Amino acid sequence: MSAEKYLQMIQQDIHSVVFATIDENQFPVTCVIDIMLADKDGLYFLTAKGKAFYERLQNQPVISITGMIGNDTLSSKSVTLRGEVREIGQGLLSEIFEKNPYMKAIYPNAASRTALTVFQIYKGSGEFFDLSQKPIFRERFSFGGMESHMQYFFVTDKCNGCECCVKICPQNCIDISSCTTKIQQEHCLHCGKCMEICPLQAIERRTL
Ligand SMILES: Cc1cc2nc3c(=O)[nH]c(=O)nc-3n(C[C@H](O)[C@H](O)[C@H](O)COP(=O)(O)O)c2cc1C
Repeated sequence: MSAEKYLQMIQQDIHSVVFATIDENQFPVTCVIDIMLADKDGLYFLTAKGKAFYERLQNQPVISITGMIGNDTLSSKSVTLRGEVREIGQGLLSEIFEKNPYMKAIYPNAASRTALTVFQIYKGSGEFFDLSQKPIFRERFSFGGMESHMQYFFVTDKCNGCECCVKICPQNCIDISSCTTKIQQEHCLHCGKCMEICPLQAIERRTL
């Protein structure tokens, strides 16, 4: 699925996500924030200028967010992304209040809305993770020119096809149907058992 579709999923299906920001002591702080709009250029959220959250964003305009849908673990899907934000002010406020009418109950009049300001997550990379499928399904995406920095396991040409890894993989996602052993990245849990058990150290942890 495209990055834009995942951004839409965050805005429409998940909507309230957990944000991690960094405080003045370099400690991570989390809070729940609603994603108000999404388009091909990113995600948009608002906050009030009096909040400590606003101060954290001003001091260090980087975020990591996670949201999920589902009633229990085995029916859940999550989307996580990290990226950079910029304040764009009040320009999108009317559109945000039109698309999210419940906001009128929180900030009922024009005077109270002057406290608000909008931020855009304008570049980011993330991952969709679906535990409702068996084997699990995961997919990376990025937007705004940000590169992905995710880890994965890779079978090198030191492999002699002994199949130790195939037998231990909890998701049965190591493919030996061709002459090279291949990890199906979209189904891999990243548990690391294949790397641990390989007698030839043929499996490496790599970063994309
Ligand atoms: C479901 C839910 C959605 C929220 N959405 C927002 C939001 O979009 N913007 C916001 O500033 N605060 C929102 N909040 C409130 C923040 O989570 C809360 O103000 C934050 O934890 C305060 O952090 P701070 O004291 O570090 O600024 C929401 C809270 C909940 C429970």
